[in-house]
Amino acid sequence: MTTPDWDLARSQFPTLQKKIYLNSCSLGLLSRRSRDALNRYMDLWEEKGAAAWYVEWLAEMADLREQFAQLINASADEIAIMPSISATLAAITSSIDLQEGDQLVTGELDFPTVAHGFHAKARSGVETTVVRSDDRVMVGPAQFEQAISQRTRLVATSRVFFTSGYIQDVSAICDAAHNVGALAFVDDYQATGQVPIDVREVGADVLVSGGLKWLLGGPGITYMYVRRDLIPELEPSVAGWFGHRDQFAFNPHEMAYKETAARFETGTPSVSAIYAGAEGMRIVNELGADAIRQRTSELTSRLVSSLKERGFTLRVPPDDDHHASITMVELDDPGPVVDQLAERDIIVDFRPGALRASPYFYNTPEDIDTFVDAITEITLD
Ligand SMILES: Cc1ncc(COP(=O)(O)O)c(C=O)c1O
Repeated sequence: MTTPDWDLARSQFPTLQKKIYLNSCSLGLLSRRSRDALNRYMDLWEEKGAAAWYVEWLAEMADLREQFAQLINASADEIAIMPSISATLAAITSSIDLQEGDQLVTGELDFPTVAHGFHAKARSGVETTVVRSDDRVMVGPAQFEQAISQRTRLVATSRVFFTSGYIQDVSAICDAAHNVGALAFVDDYQATGQVPIDVREVGADVLVSGGLKWLLGGPGITYMYVRRDLIPELEPSVAGWFGHRDQFAFNPHEMAYKETAARFETGTPSVSAIYAGAEGMRIVNELGADAIRQRTSELTSRLVSSLKERGFTLRVPPDDDHHASITMVELDDPGPVVDQLAERDIIVDFRPGALRASPYFYNTPEDIDTFVDAITEITLD
């Protein structure tokens, strides 16, 4: 593994000239390269009109599939491009013939759009189990195993929890799902990019991620891997012409699904999001997830130890190996502290009862020290 030139990587992000940005788990920064990519998209739109679709825009979409496949060690034909995680989940649940009494399982620390999508199936008599967390940091695999039953059809959980930064052993949960014949769905939104992955080792049937955070692509673009041998078995009832095998035959008399994961795509995608997403992912692939993990881990460990030295109570995983970037600092009323930090051009965010800081490779040890000094000063006042 060669160490990237982090100063050079950092210089791609103009926001960092003005601010200390520690909120990538909410929204990764815009790079000069993604801005240039968006300009390329607009130039093509202006110059060629609809003709841009057939050569450049569909090619960019194909490259985006390749980029994501490379990052997780999958093949491009196993990747669908979707607008949100909620849409990926809807595509998968609509592919399973859910019956009254079937069970869907997710965790209390998983991003709630998953549970919301599951609960929406209640009117068909489908039951949702939300596995509880005792400490708001993690949910043990044994707790998932206990919740999974012979009635379970789908288990969905995250590799990194959005609210604690805990890196979960999702392989054990995927195995537990497979033992009862259920599908394993991994929400990797908070992990891909910052924590390396080989999707085949994880054993997920479906793994989803997106541009918003660590993949530096902005909103409106998500990526869904579906294991190749599963694709022919899953026919989504939420469907559209981008998922049709002969999309440009315009035949309204039948739905014939594509043989690839693109069968889960529905209508016309956002091409601007594809351009921004592809360029963001190229940056991540060029730097390499291993190098990014090492850099982000060093920054996170510095953050955790400095905050502890100053006496803050943290809601974080017990060891560095299980800790992705997200760090929660417990505060009774975090909102005003976040605002006062923003007045000093230090950007973090908060969730109920805790301030959330999430460094990425483009941050520096000095950013961490300045933030820790500032939060100490503000909360001591
Ligand atoms: C783990 C995780 N999953 C999903 C989402 C978002 O889901 P959606 O794309 O449906 O808005 C987020 C945050 O925005 C997240 O942190």
